[in-house]
Amino acid sequence: MWKCLSLPKFRFHASATALKKAPLKLKGKSGAEQRWLVRQLGDPFVKAAHSQNYRCRSAFKLLEIDDKYDVLRPGLSVVDCGAAPGAWSQVAAQRVNAAGERPDLPRGSVIGIDLLHIAPLEGAHFLSNQDITDPATHAALQRLLPQAQADVILSDMAPNASGLRELDHERLVSMCLSLLELADKILRPGGSLVCKYWDGGLTHKLRDGLARAFRDVRTVKPKASRKESSELYFLARTFRNT
Ligand SMILES: C[S@@+](CC[C@H](N)C(=O)[O-])C[C@H]1O[C@@H](n2cnc3c(N)ncnc32)[C@H](O)[C@@H]1O
Repeated sequence: MWKCLSLPKFRFHASATALKKAPLKLKGKSGAEQRWLVRQLGDPFVKAAHSQNYRCRSAFKLLEIDDKYDVLRPGLSVVDCGAAPGAWSQVAAQRVNAAGERPDLPRGSVIGIDLLHIAPLEGAHFLSNQDITDPATHAALQRLLPQAQADVILSDMAPNASGLRELDHERLVSMCLSLLELADKILRPGGSLVCKYWDGGLTHKLRDGLARAFRDVRTVKPKASRKESSELYFLARTFRNT
């Protein structure tokens, strides 16, 4: 199960105060689970996610990237890859005005895809139980997107960690490289892509692939991304589509 889903009784509803008062039930848990639970309950981004009704602390990574680089604007079409439980889609839906909450601004769209089920969200269309590397998913996206094109591809996806750092890194790089095939099919010229990767020996291969397809590629480490984690994001802007 994905870590941001691992406190189901607090999910979506618990306030920061309720979270603070919640009893720590450590009995019967392994040492690693106990350490994770203690860290989770002391984490300011976990508390902020609960108090601001985000499905997961990862929302703050995208909020920070967007605050700094202005990737999401009202009216844009966004594809969110590896979207479950849906926090990035929540941020994207707010920022592109996908639910039409601001009638004075253009209305955008968000389509989220995940191998897992994603609970419904106003303003977003979810393709649950779908593999983003599968050409059939690409075809479904082309059918669903306005004019079959997206302005932004987001990817916070990650494979189930094996615990072998270099192997996990290589698997995630290969998933990210498959996003370039998706971009060729659906990304509008001038569009952007944000993708998570775990740093390692093949990072240069991913960066080179992105640099061939986009005019500007930079590495971003948002504050909500834990310092001790090898997690980083590439922000690739101005898709060439040549
Ligand atoms: C870290 S979670 C994403 C969290 C999400 N950004 C949020 O804010 O709620 C990574 C997700 O990637 C998904 N994933 C991994 N491989 C995938 C694939 N090939 N296609 C679609 N989703 C995938 C996993 O199922 C998992 O839900």
